[in-house]
Amino acid sequence: MTDDAKRLIDAARDAAQNAYAPYSGFAVGAAILLSDGEIVTGANFENASYGLSLCAETVAMAKVGNLGRLGDVVAVGISGSPIGVDSEAAVHPCGRCRQILNEAAQLGGRDLAVHCAGSSGDVYQTHHLSTLLPHAFGPADLPPQKG
Ligand code: THU
Repeated sequence: MTDDAKRLIDAARDAAQNAYAPYSGFAVGAAILLSDGEIVTGANFENASYGLSLCAETVAMAKVGNLGRLGDVVAVGISGSPIGVDSEAAVHPCGRCRQILNEAAQLGGRDLAVHCAGSSGDVYQTHHLSTLLPHAFGPADLPPQKG
């Protein structure tokens, strides 16, 4: 693994320990690397009203937004598996999360590296957001916003 990929997947695996996923039984962690080396993490956060559940990537991205750092996102690591199961099968971001990640990608003018792994092992896949979400719609398509 590259250093960045290893750091991010390790951090995502740690974050997945904090998943609240009693309905799906599937724990996901996400770790977002900022340009100064800081890593911001999140885990999926489900709800008894199932459709309200938040993915790990979305939770982590909301934290980055709250730090005022959306334009500083460089790369993302994602890890997941059924709770209590060691799995090397890579988890890829859902479609909604790809769109959420695109906000940061366009604001920062970067094609984000997205490192995808299971909950164990050294197997991972690196993609770029432009491949995962081609022809994306984002802030660059809108007129300049106030505030
Ligand atoms: N999940 C994520 O957190 N990220 C993804 O990209 C895919 C799915 C979560 C949502 C739900 O809590 C559980 O995994 C099963 O779908």
